[in-house]
Amino acid sequence: MAINRREFIKYAGLAAASTIVAGCAGAAAGSTAPARSNSSPIFEPVKIGNLELKNRMIKSASQELRSDTNGNPTDDLIRVYTNLSKGGVAMIITGLTYVLRDEQYNPNGAGMYDDSQIPAYQRLTSAVHDNGAKICAQLALIGSNRNYNLDKRVFAPSAAIGSSYGTQVQKEMTKDEIKQAVAAVAAAAVRAQKAGFDAVELHLAHEYLACQFLMPYFNRRKDEYGGSRENRARFAFEIVEAVRAAVGPDFPVLAKFASTHERGEQGCLRDDIDYTAKGLAERGLTALDISGGNEVEDFNPSHRWISDYTEDMCYFAHDARFISMSLNFPLILTGGSRDIGVMEKAMQSNDQIVAFGIARPLINDPSLPNKWMADVTYKAECISCNWCRDNYGGQKTHCQFRPEEA
Ligand SMILES: Cc1cc2nc3c(=O)[nH]c(=O)nc-3n(C[C@H](O)[C@H](O)[C@H](O)COP(=O)(O)O)c2cc1C
Repeated sequence: MAINRREFIKYAGLAAASTIVAGCAGAAAGSTAPARSNSSPIFEPVKIGNLELKNRMIKSASQELRSDTNGNPTDDLIRVYTNLSKGGVAMIITGLTYVLRDEQYNPNGAGMYDDSQIPAYQRLTSAVHDNGAKICAQLALIGSNRNYNLDKRVFAPSAAIGSSYGTQVQKEMTKDEIKQAVAAVAAAAVRAQKAGFDAVELHLAHEYLACQFLMPYFNRRKDEYGGSRENRARFAFEIVEAVRAAVGPDFPVLAKFASTHERGEQGCLRDDIDYTAKGLAERGLTALDISGGNEVEDFNPSHRWISDYTEDMCYFAHDARFISMSLNFPLILTGGSRDIGVMEKAMQSNDQIVAFGIARPLINDPSLPNKWMADVTYKAECISCNWCRDNYGGQKTHCQFRPEEA
């Protein structure tokens, strides 16, 4: 049975992350800690498979909602990613891109569903490369995790289960539709490669389609895609196999991966997570990007996140540790990276953490990595208020404290 984060901490007898953080955060603020040098392993280069990063700070995917109505990058999106690449981050993971035209989730959402889009994306990747950063395309099957474009066929593992958006379907996906979806991700990965992306990230988390297959709550299938952990993982495995076959053995393929904090009790099961993580690694994945989504106690139609825990930092470190206990594999730790001292501590406690995914602090301040590298004790100004998330949908993604980005 899946447990939520608070229960996990209670039952596992581990120190609450907030306790760990308190010491480090105080140190970072300079209140009690001795002066630190300005070097940090976080600023050092790292090689993850064939992906060479100049430091361990990665912009975690956030839907920017600055694409045109065909899903192509606009000058405005290129400007935002250019600013980020100038800010010192090693790699930008794009906001999720829909790989099936019919799965457009927002009129200004990014899409990567057709080869005719390659030149537009080449402009984007060149702009980022010109400033010394790398760029990774996040590829997603949206499924019922949308409330837009609902006159089109909506994919879901099973019928009549409402998503976080309240969307439900009358008919579960057929096996032909499953094949079509898998092929669409593989085709998009090749497209990304041709457009000059340095990596792709497969979205297997946050209740999007592949994640729904992993979750017994959404996946009630009676065929070989449901009913057991082996069957629930099959769709994700087929995606990774198809992508790896399509892009060749050397191209970096990451996966945003659901932790136990995906819809709390209704979420991914501990055993499933370990089994799926191992299977993904065996099928040629380069690294897992550890994340989570909703918790039942926080669950409401506005789709709130585990990241509502504003008091904690690196809040998926516990999940990363659990995965590392049964699997020796590179992990990107995403969520709550606000302080270099805390991030260093997370790396010290788990040597499989090779890099950090950072989203909201970089929406707040794209030059945060440069500020950290100039002063390791610098505190990110993001207060994790979630305004960028809660106001997402109707406007371009930005921080309420950076109104010029609206
Ligand atoms: C406005 C916004 C949009 C997001 N869009 C995506 C997305 O497209 N794909 C994804 O995997 N995660 C998305 N996320 C989640 C972030 O990548 C990240 O996992 C989460 O915000 C926790 O990291 P943080 O504490 O550094 O913000 C989004 C988050 C925010 C705030």
